[in-house]
This record gives sequence, C-alpha cells and structure tokens, in this order.
Amino acid sequence: MQHLITTDDLTIKQIEQILDDALRFKLQKKPVSLLKNRLLFTLFFENSTRTRSSFEVAAKRLGANVVHLDPSKSSTNKGESVEDTFLNLCAMLPDGVIIRHSDNHLAKKLSDMNLTPLLNAGSGSYAHPTQALLDLFTLKEHFGSLDGLKIAIVGDIVNSRVASSAIALFGRFGIKISLVAPEPFMPRDTNLPKFDKLEDVLDDVDVVMSLRAQFERHNKPVFENYETYASHYCLTKENIGSRDIIIMHPGPVMRNIDISDEILDDKRSKVLTQVTNGLFVRMAILKLLLLDS
Ligand code: NCD
Repeated sequence: MQHLITTDDLTIKQIEQILDDALRFKLQKKPVSLLKNRLLFTLFFENSTRTRSSFEVAAKRLGANVVHLDPSKSSTNKGESVEDTFLNLCAMLPDGVIIRHSDNHLAKKLSDMNLTPLLNAGSGSYAHPTQALLDLFTLKEHFGSLDGLKIAIVGDIVNSRVASSAIALFGRFGIKISLVAPEPFMPRDTNLPKFDKLEDVLDDVDVVMSLRAQFERHNKPVFENYETYASHYCLTKENIGSRDIIIMHPGPVMRNIDISDEILDDKRSKVLTQVTNGLFVRMAILKLLLLDS
C-alpha cells in the first residue's frame, strides 16, 4: 500500500510518472473514469481553499466519489481522538483518505496503521507534498528542464510546510535554492544559501517563490507591523523590474505584503497557473496511489 506523507515516499521514477500523467490530463482536458466507484474521504482539520477543492475536483474528474468530513461538526468535538475518527472512517472501507492537520507527525502515524492509502494535504509546518509536486510541474512546464534552475524562496520559511517540501523535492532534481527572509522567518538548520535582502538574489534567479507569514503557527506576533516587512520582502514592480523571471506563491496571497497587485496581474505571475496545475497533478497522484501502486 502506497502513502504520500512526504515527497521522499516517491521514487524519481514515480515523480516522473506523476509529471507525465499530469501533463496528459492537462492536455486531454476532459474527465476520465479511471477511479469510477472508488470512495475517498477528505478530512481537513485546518482551513483550506485550494488544496481541499483541488483534491475533491481531481477525484471527481477521475470518476471517484468524495465524502468530506467536517471536523468542526464531527465527534472530535465530542472528545473522540483523531486516531479513533480515522479508524471509524476506515471501517467504511474507503479507497483512500486525504488529511490535513496541524500536527507535524499525525499523517505519518495514521499511515503506519496501513488501513488505507493516506494522502497528506498539509501537516503542520512539516510537509505539503502535493504542493511541492504541483510546483515542480509548473517549473517543468515553464522551463522545460529543471536541472540547474535557480529559485529564491522568500517569506516565513521556517514555519512553512510548502518551503520544507519544496526544499526536499527540488534538490532531488538539481534545482538550486536560496532562502530570503528576516531572521525570525529563517530556518537555522539548513546549509542552503541565506539572504536577508531580496535585492541580493534577484539578479541571479529564474524563479521567486513568495510565502505568506504563517500566523496560525506563531505563538505571539512576530512583527507588529507588516507594512515594514512588506517594504523589504513584497514582490513589486519596483524590485522585480523587467527581469525575465517567474513569480510563484502557493496561496493564499497576502496582497501587497507578499506580492503587489501589479505583480500578481503581471504575466510573469504563475499563481493561478499553479492552481490549475494542482488539479492535474493531484489527478496524477490519485491515479498513482490508488491504481498503479
Ligand atoms: C499553503 C498551506 O496551507 O500550507 N496553502 C496551500 O495549501 N495552497 C500555504 C499557506 O497557507 O500559506
């Protein structure tokens, strides 16, 4: 049984298959019935706009049925543990469970029970494998080849599961990563090149990936004033200029703090392309885990 907790659960061959299948799904556009009569649960203990709907639309475009359990209305609110909730869902014989939770290690713990393929849709600050895969697809789609690409990740890197999964996955494909953040947002335990000024990297990258401040993971406010933060780290017409680079962000974008309105509207912004690609990449992931493994 194959799970997807971190991108390290996948071999390079499997990742290449996901990228190929996703491209095929994107080109062919219309739904297919590869997962007809399959049943998936989505179980999101943290807020989600893109990831949950993307998984649900991906499953439906493959012909699967999706049942969403809303934790705020489930028996976890009556004191049932997440493990017991999961056991009960598995007793209904699903073909997979897609879970998002603030606990870094819960998804792994549940997958170790080996009851059903488990797909991690975001675990604390630890991992967000499907985001990293859709970002990889977006890079490959734009640049053709991945080896040697240079990307700067900017923002609340230390608290971001998007950053941790991107760093883990992109490195395997020869992508060179630089980190740009103020000291409280910069991870300490990394050998990657670190910068505190955006201007110091912009001339030497192909891609800038901006990340939101992860307020839900801050015990107390890190900055009193995000306008000051934005004056250093927001991607704007002024600092991006006419450079031939692309801009990425997993969403939700804090407009004019992470990325300015103008740059979001610029054709170099791939933010909505990432959302579209997420759909096809998640179709490919569901195919791999539920059908091919
Ligand atoms: C991200 C997440 O939830 O980790 N969003 C997403 O899945 N597209 C990033 C974020 O919330 O900042």
